[in-house]
Amino acid sequence: MTAGQADALQRLWPKWGLDIDGGRVIDLAELFGNTGPVVLEIGFGMGEATAQMAAADPGTNILAVDVHTPGQGNLLNLADRDGLTNVRVANGDAIILLREMLAPDALDGLRVYFPDPWPKKRHHKRRLIQPEFLSLAATRLKPGAILHCATDWEPYAEQMLEVLTAHPDFENTRADGGFAPRPEFRPLTRFEGQGLDKGHVVNDLLFRRVPHVPSAQPPADV
Ligand SMILES: C[S@@+](CC[C@H](N)C(=O)[O-])C[C@H]1O[C@@H](n2cnc3c(N)ncnc32)[C@H](O)[C@@H]1O
Repeated sequence: MTAGQADALQRLWPKWGLDIDGGRVIDLAELFGNTGPVVLEIGFGMGEATAQMAAADPGTNILAVDVHTPGQGNLLNLADRDGLTNVRVANGDAIILLREMLAPDALDGLRVYFPDPWPKKRHHKRRLIQPEFLSLAATRLKPGAILHCATDWEPYAEQMLEVLTAHPDFENTRADGGFAPRPEFRPLTRFEGQGLDKGHVVNDLLFRRVPHVPSAQPPADV
């Protein structure tokens, strides 16, 4: 961690930091000081792309979570430098944040950019985008909210497409049922740049949280 990152953590964590302790459901309007839409970004790394997106869309609140402390300091520094008031930084496991600290239908969007690819077969179970994760995420997303994933690891992209397509709570925004081109609002990320340098192909996936449809009740006399 650089001295600047450590300094930012010390100065800005009390104002913009959120400890994931699993102990309470967060009031997002209170956290951001407004009732605007909230997008959760899981695994922001060093946060450069997060800060750029926050600056480009000041009406959207970004709750950015990672376990990587230097990155948290870096993102706080960027938010301070650029005068961003719509970013909050959470420290800890995104699963606990989703499960224990966010209310149902709390989120207007979810971004998962370049999650750890875990290329070895025996580590595939550690990948974030799995049916159980999607079921949890779906409960926290408002109907119509977009789950946006990107990866430079093609086998993981195929897995994402497969589990998202099969999941009843999500539908592909692409009529052709495939990957999406990188939307203009998503800047290149640091991890993505490293992948592109190695010749990796990047795939984006944009899926919509479908409305909850109560299962049909059989007629009373059947
Ligand atoms: C490969 S990096 C990508 C970082 C960034 N999105 C980028 O594209 O440059 C994945 C990030 O996800 C974070 N991460 C992995 N599992 C996580 C979890 N359960 N909760 C929060 N962050 C997580 C890691 O610490 C790491 O910073």
